[in-house]
Amino acid sequence: MTLTESVYLSALAAFLVSGVAAQTAPQYGQCGGMGWTGATICPANWSCIVTNEWYSQCLPGSATTTTVATTTVATSTVGTGSTTASSTSTASGGSATLDPGYSFVRSVEAPTFHQYLESQVLGTASPAVVGDYTNAAQYQVVNGQLIQNAGGTSLYAVVQPPANSTVKKLGVSWSRTPDTLGSFVFSGDSLEWSSPTVPRQQTNAWLVCPSGSAQLLPDINLGAYDYMTPAGCSDTTLNAYTGATAVP
Ligand SMILES: *[C@@H]1O[C@H](CO)[C@@H](O)[C@H](O)[C@H]1NC(C)=O
Ligand SMILES: *[C@@H]1O[C@H](CO)[C@@H](O)[C@H](O)[C@H]1NC(C)=O
Repeated sequence: MTLTESVYLSALAAFLVSGVAAQTAPQYGQCGGMGWTGATICPANWSCIVTNEWYSQCLPGSATTTTVATTTVATSTVGTGSTTASSTSTASGGSATLDPGYSFVRSVEAPTFHQYLESQVLGTASPAVVGDYTNAAQYQVVNGQLIQNAGGTSLYAVVQPPANSTVKKLGVSWSRTPDTLGSFVFSGDSLEWSSPTVPRQQTNAWLVCPSGSAQLLPDINLGAYDYMTPAGCSDTTLNAYTGATAVP
């Protein structure tokens, strides 16, 4: 019997024995994720840990008994986890809970895999950066504007206009006034930007480039994806993530 099979069988046994499967998921069983209609509570001293937006699983570790029924219900264990919980899984921490109608936005390619779009100075009008999941900000695209929910106020992503036709990347920063150069859109889950006045080869091509303070700035790549990447930068796309909390 493989490990997977034995885990499955013990989960099944727990499921059959418990008789309260509608309320309590078995050890190592699913306890949440988009479309999940089954049990959302884990056994005592087990925690429901978000794997991704489709799947949360009961894993050993105390923390609190946490309910993750859908993507709109969060493992809000920030600041409440015990030392046991924090050593159990990096996912038991996480960011603030995602508000309905918003998405996290994250890079999906190494070396910035699952770094999240945020403000260099948290929640303020400052350069856009990709960084740690614990500081992940939340976004909506409305009428072509990428809007950051900064504690009740809106910050708009504004794109720096190209100085001349040799410029290959455009910086992005957060502003209290909307962008006038182009439009953002989520195409599927991919964040794209286009402008009637700035030709681009690929509207979902982003670069992340280090700045002096070791922050990684996302830049709009005016060239082709993964072609003639500027020195020090790397290619990525930025994708919406609608898990209950931002996770590494
Ligand atoms: C859960 O953990 C606490 C503290 O370690 C322990 O006292 C308790 O017996 C445990 N409960 C179960 C059901 O294992
Ligand atoms: C184009 O703009 C960049 C950035 O401002 C500048 O470094 C470069 O010298 C300019 N090139 C030309 C040909 O004007």
